[in-house]
Amino acid sequence: MKKVVVFFLLSGLLFSCVKKEESKVEAKKVTAEKKDFKMYEMSEMAKLMEQMYADNLRLKERIKNGDTIGKFPQHFLDIHKAVMTDEKENDDFFKAQAVNFIKAQELIYQDPKNAKEHFNSGVDACLSCHQVKCGGPIPRIKKLYIE
Ligand code: HEC
Repeated sequence: MKKVVVFFLLSGLLFSCVKKEESKVEAKKVTAEKKDFKMYEMSEMAKLMEQMYADNLRLKERIKNGDTIGKFPQHFLDIHKAVMTDEKENDDFFKAQAVNFIKAQELIYQDPKNAKEHFNSGVDACLSCHQVKCGGPIPRIKKLYIE
């Protein structure tokens, strides 16, 4: 029974976000062909997500090299208010996951001695929201883990 529920959750969500990944590819093709098409526009939330991805990739390298960690990036807090492609996704689940995610990320800066562990729990927090909300980027997000 549990398996069936998980299956339905996953299939529903894969569809919603995979479609978007495809449309992005389409948009790129269109640019290449220089046609006058309506372009795929990223939502504020999608842009923030890409920014957080890039920031976390840089942070991962710093942690691996034993560099200083710096300060918590304040723009991460925009996760609570950025406009999404589909505002229906901004439900109680999303809000609770966003709070957990920010807490996990803040810990990296509050306790830099255990930066690696806190960083990886931050990636867990990205994934626990994505498993329900947006399946497409999961393989990319998994690459953030520090081994
Ligand atoms: C609270 C839930 C939640 C958390 C936490 C979260 N995401 Fe997302 N993510 C989303 C949603 C919802 C979208 C779709 C946004 C939209 O289309 O407006 C998204 C979209 C994305 C995208 C695709 C953006 C695009 O190009 O369309 C990437 C990449 C991404 N997230 C990476 C991450 C990473 C990396 C983390 C952790 C550092 C993270 N996400 C944390 C919910 C979350």
